[in-house]
Amino acid sequence: MDINNIIKEKGFLDIDLPKDIDYKSEIEKLKKEKNAIILGHYYQTDDIQEISDILGDSLALAQEAAKTNADLIVFAGVHFMAETAKLVNPMKKVVLPDLNAGCSLADSAPADQFEKFVKEHPDHTVITYINSSTEVKALTDVCVTSSNAVQIVNSFPKDEKLIFAPDKNLGSYINKISGRNMLLWDGACHVHKEFSIPRLLELKKEYPNAKIIAHPECQSDLLILADHIGSTSSLLKFTQTDNNEQYIVATESGILHQMRKFSPNKHFIPAPPEDSTCACNDCVFMKLNTLKKIYLAMKYEVPEITLDEELRKRAAKPIERMLEISANLGL
Ligand code: 13P
Ligand code: SF4
Repeated sequence: MDINNIIKEKGFLDIDLPKDIDYKSEIEKLKKEKNAIILGHYYQTDDIQEISDILGDSLALAQEAAKTNADLIVFAGVHFMAETAKLVNPMKKVVLPDLNAGCSLADSAPADQFEKFVKEHPDHTVITYINSSTEVKALTDVCVTSSNAVQIVNSFPKDEKLIFAPDKNLGSYINKISGRNMLLWDGACHVHKEFSIPRLLELKKEYPNAKIIAHPECQSDLLILADHIGSTSSLLKFTQTDNNEQYIVATESGILHQMRKFSPNKHFIPAPPEDSTCACNDCVFMKLNTLKKIYLAMKYEVPEITLDEELRKRAAKPIERMLEISANLGL
């Protein structure tokens, strides 16, 4: 079977390799040989975080993708992140080690249904979270990430009619903070909506001095309990600058690696999901990437992200607008 067929069937390249292969050093060699860069998200496994050239939240990774001089961008994250890299830097080759690394939140807004919704509200400006498909971005006026959403929404006049999609939790959080009444699409992330409030309160009884820190994709009832709310990078920064010693972390568990690395003397406790028997605070999509898949993606430069040029141009506009506003705001 040829490489393209393997990818078509599995969504990633699966080739038998010698058992003793040292992926870390092979990946470092390939980086130099190919002038390649690995952009990694905080939700990746610890070993992938360690070999990433840039590790960050969605905004930092999009900013880096737009300005990199690398010839090959290897995205250690999920599909919408790799697509965003291609949107802003179309001349670069972008590979995603496993094409099945999707996002339940992006999937909660199918483009045809979203288009209908937008057409039903022609007097509304469309603001879309970066966790969305390229087709949805093409229907959007400006994109946001959890790092700049409140500031970008606030940059619109108070009386401007706004649609926010796809995350209803982030949308309600922004409405509350900014005093807006944006029309919200009814989407959510399967990881962040699963945290259990009763179990979180039990944990808080056990660790009364722990501060609760949460990603704004969590449900509003949980966010009420949080001492700090923010993007992955904002949560990480908070744990570095705040002087508390214990934190209950309500977001995907991958971020705990950096928290523990930067603050080895502090205690980080993952917030509990509803179902005590599952590892539901792991994003199954983020966790599809492995060192082996990254090595193969770099070596064979597949699976590659490709986009129809007309669609790319339309979807790039709201991302470029977001990057421009963020730069003006110093974000
Ligand atoms: P951040 O941009 O805060 O890293 O969030 C990305 C994400 O997918 C959250 O689930
Ligand atoms: Fe998407 Fe949720 Fe995974 Fe983030 S954690 S990539 S929002 S499914």
